[in-house]
Amino acid sequence: MKVPFLDLTRAAAAEAEAVREAVARVHASGRYILGPEVEAFERAFAAFAGAAHGVGCGNGTDAITLALRALGIGAGDEVLTVSMTCAPTATGILNAGAHPVFVDVDPRALTMDPARLAHARTSRTRAVVPVHLYGRPAAMEEIAAFARAHGLALVEDCAQAHGARLGGRSVGTFGDAATWSFFPTKNLGAIGDGGIVTTSRAEVAERVRRLRMYGYATRNDAREPGFNSRLDELQAAILSVRLGRLPGGNRRRAALAALYDGLLAGAVETPPAPPAGGEPCHHRYIVRIAGRETVRERLSMAGVGTDVHYPTAVHEQPAFAAFPRGPLPETERAVREVLSLPLYPELTEDEVRAAASALGESVSR
Ligand SMILES: Cc1ncc(COP(=O)(O)O)c(C=O)c1O
Repeated sequence: MKVPFLDLTRAAAAEAEAVREAVARVHASGRYILGPEVEAFERAFAAFAGAAHGVGCGNGTDAITLALRALGIGAGDEVLTVSMTCAPTATGILNAGAHPVFVDVDPRALTMDPARLAHARTSRTRAVVPVHLYGRPAAMEEIAAFARAHGLALVEDCAQAHGARLGGRSVGTFGDAATWSFFPTKNLGAIGDGGIVTTSRAEVAERVRRLRMYGYATRNDAREPGFNSRLDELQAAILSVRLGRLPGGNRRRAALAALYDGLLAGAVETPPAPPAGGEPCHHRYIVRIAGRETVRERLSMAGVGTDVHYPTAVHEQPAFAAFPRGPLPETERAVREVLSLPLYPELTEDEVRAAASALGESVSR
């Protein structure tokens, strides 16, 4: 049996009529940029994420830049973040004019290790950007306490965490603002690019609104240098359809992840339990394997698609090699061992069984 790593055509088939209707509605409306569809989606997504405000923007990278700039972070400022993520987390920081400073991850959770923050902080540190990697909540209680104690802004990168919760609260509600991506492969994805900043601080939302469109307070009244980073009406209408399907999709991901857990127990290192009170949204199902590349090749020969998130730590990539960091041994070990197995709502139980069995055979050879 062939098991594709990700097949977005399956979701497309299931929602075809609703999406066709949404596209036709926007097309006929003559409003294509920042209209009623974006406003309705911003309200609905903010409610879903437990925030008072949502401001749509072009993508998840821009969302990080806009949130930081709206919080007054810019040139000369240092921002504590992780290297165990994909490059856009650091790119978003850089595009705000600030410098990323990488801290290591907890070796089991693979999210920001709060114990490493104190060592990385300098007199220039102004903000912290943790990442809820793979849809697993970072240790937000500890990270938020550190940010509070040192007067640092806190922006949660929730690009992989639509629907993840911690202590009964949505991720993204622990800091000043949260940033989300609607890249097509996310739990909530667009048919193209999209992003949003959520916040419960009205003045932050207002400034993001200004910054996303030329710095305009009102039309032709630029109050500060801004950007052009807007969510468009078409993507917003499609995202509204998909937001309705998100809770069911996340439940299905959880059930399939539990099936993997049972099938793989004892054979490979499976994902650790989330932090106490944490509910992941199962964006990725990750296993850790020494000798990953050989196992990956064997799985490919068996017809099982896999991917690696991520094969190179951010600080190991040329664009970020110059930025300050402490030792990052856990990050450097993890990027050589993590392997992502197929996990999406439209995957069948038989496909999960086939993938798990091929993995079991690939590691025992
Ligand atoms: C953790 C993380 N941060 C930021 C981003 C950037 O999002 P986008 O591709 O929408 O710019 C992504 C996704 O690509 C991501 O996974």
